[in-house]
Amino acid sequence: MRRKIVAGNWKMNNTFQNAEDLLDELVDSLANEQEDQDVEVVVCPPFLYAEMALDMSTDDEDASQPQVFYSVGVQNVSEYEKGAYTGEISAGMLASMNVEYCIVGHSERRKYFGETDSQVARKVEQLLQNAITPIVCCGEQEADREAGNQFEVVGRQLKEGLFHLKPLDFSRLIIAYEPVWAIGTGKTATPEQAQEMHAFIRGLVQEQYGKEIARVVPVLYGGSCNAKTAKDLFAMPDIDGGLIGGASLDARDFVAIINSFEK
Ligand code: 13P
Repeated sequence: MRRKIVAGNWKMNNTFQNAEDLLDELVDSLANEQEDQDVEVVVCPPFLYAEMALDMSTDDEDASQPQVFYSVGVQNVSEYEKGAYTGEISAGMLASMNVEYCIVGHSERRKYFGETDSQVARKVEQLLQNAITPIVCCGEQEADREAGNQFEVVGRQLKEGLFHLKPLDFSRLIIAYEPVWAIGTGKTATPEQAQEMHAFIRGLVQEQYGKEIARVVPVLYGGSCNAKTAKDLFAMPDIDGGLIGGASLDARDFVAIINSFEK
């Protein structure tokens, strides 16, 4: 069986106070309402709140066996190791704070900050060298899909961003398929559209890395995934969970999504 993962990408939202309130509510809901403890929950707040998110992620009432409610990720990382890169945050810094996951190549970073597949490749390497799990995003624009080019676009993103990795390194990452036309638009991909792309992605991974790695690599869906749409998406054979934007800003909605896997 593959891992089941739901990750929340808060993007550039929430004041410090709102973030604390949301995490408080999330811990409470997870403690009382998470139905399947096998679902891995990841919260990716803005960098500034990562330390608070880490502090609030465990219940250390019993210090010998702390209960961990969620893992902490961030939304970006520098492609460089260290040095004179004003404003950047390195993978080594993240590792030194126990951050465990990092989103890479999100379409918003590609669109607004010009992030390229070769930068994605370098960021993934930095993360893997520091034992942080990359959540690598891919996905086509609306015009690509209208022109029937979605498989070519996603295939190129994966080949150029990831397929230089050695099998052992590749086997440590998570892929997120996020069609750009579905992000923040309320226009969720149908379960069939998402499944078709997830199966295509798994097929490419199989060609490059073989059956076993393709069988286990988690492929998440993102793009207007919410408490209503998650169930049918997660029921698809190649969809292993979600990367959630807007709905991760509401603890109840986020936990409802976490509870949307087939029982
Ligand atoms: P929405 O869930 O708000 O559409 O965002 C998806 C996303 O971009 C997650 O990374």
